[in-house]
Amino acid sequence: MGPLEVLQEADDEGPLETPAVLRELYGGQLALRPPLVFANFVSSLDGVVDIPGTGRVGRVLSGDSEGDRFVMALLRASADAVLIGAGTLRASPGSTWTPEQAFPEQAQAFRELRLRRGLAARPRVVVASASGDLNPSHPGLQGALVVTGEKGAAHLPEKLDAEVLIVPDGPSGLDLRAMLRQVVQMGHRTILSEAGPSVTGKLLAQGLLGELFLTLSPLLGGWPPGGGRRGLVGETELLPRVSVGGELVSVRRQGSHLFLRYRLPGAGPGLPGEVTEEPPPG
Ligand SMILES: NC(=O)c1ccc[n+]([C@@H]2O[C@H](COP(=O)([O-])OP(=O)(O)OC[C@H]3O[C@@H](n4cnc5c(N)ncnc54)[C@H](OP(=O)(O)O)[C@@H]3O)[C@@H](O)[C@H]2O)c1
Repeated sequence: MGPLEVLQEADDEGPLETPAVLRELYGGQLALRPPLVFANFVSSLDGVVDIPGTGRVGRVLSGDSEGDRFVMALLRASADAVLIGAGTLRASPGSTWTPEQAFPEQAQAFRELRLRRGLAARPRVVVASASGDLNPSHPGLQGALVVTGEKGAAHLPEKLDAEVLIVPDGPSGLDLRAMLRQVVQMGHRTILSEAGPSVTGKLLAQGLLGELFLTLSPLLGGWPPGGGRRGLVGETELLPRVSVGGELVSVRRQGSHLFLRYRLPGAGPGLPGEVTEEPPPG
């Protein structure tokens, strides 16, 4: 893969020792300021991020973009933990959420990056499940941290090779703020969210996401009626009542794919964001 073309970069300063090959491919350093919860998505040009019933939906939406695989791997390599919801776990039966699985071509450089930054050999996979209905043989669960509530804990499979963290249930699903606070307290200070639209919509609405990395694919997805397709906030209703917007930090390009980085009002789990709630019209 050739280097990504940097069109805009407002933040690449940091005391980070990124291996030269990764700096060259990314076009600079990736500086993250913990504690930080940051999300990564690939979206079609018309906003589709999920096509139910389609395997490896990210690859389909990106048109198997090398640049998208590289950015995903670099974000994983820079994170203490990768958060997913049980929906994403179920939809990705072979995934382990490691940098090398996304971009094996630079596996050695990602290992080196983690070593230089004093990170564990692999990011910890954190799986949020309110139901506890998990397949214990999923490779992503081996050594993972499973977060659930009292009810979910009673339904967890017996042979689960994972640590279990119990947090309060929220009105629908887990209390995500409580969950993130505890995950940060466990020492995971940079948390990459690769959760799907259900969890992401709630993280955004509650001001819990600090940054969004978005790959905008040139492919169009379409919105067939009843197809169950979703955008990245899923069923969470934001506008016009709740205004959540990002400040553009960087733009990179590879061919017709854009790699966008936004800073969001959510400062992180310990610091509630500044989501503006407008009164309903009329
Ligand atoms: N395009 C992309 O970049 C991208 C990125 C990520 C995912 N995806 C796709 O999105 C799809 C999965 O979407 P999803 O929305 O089901 O995934 P998700 O948000 O990762 O997982 C949803 C699950 O999270 C658990 N959960 C715990 N607390 C919750 C809460 N407060 N609110 C909501 N959920 C909570 C629930 O598990 P229980 O059911 O166990 O209670 C819920 O079913 C997959 O097809 C995946 O490939 C695409």
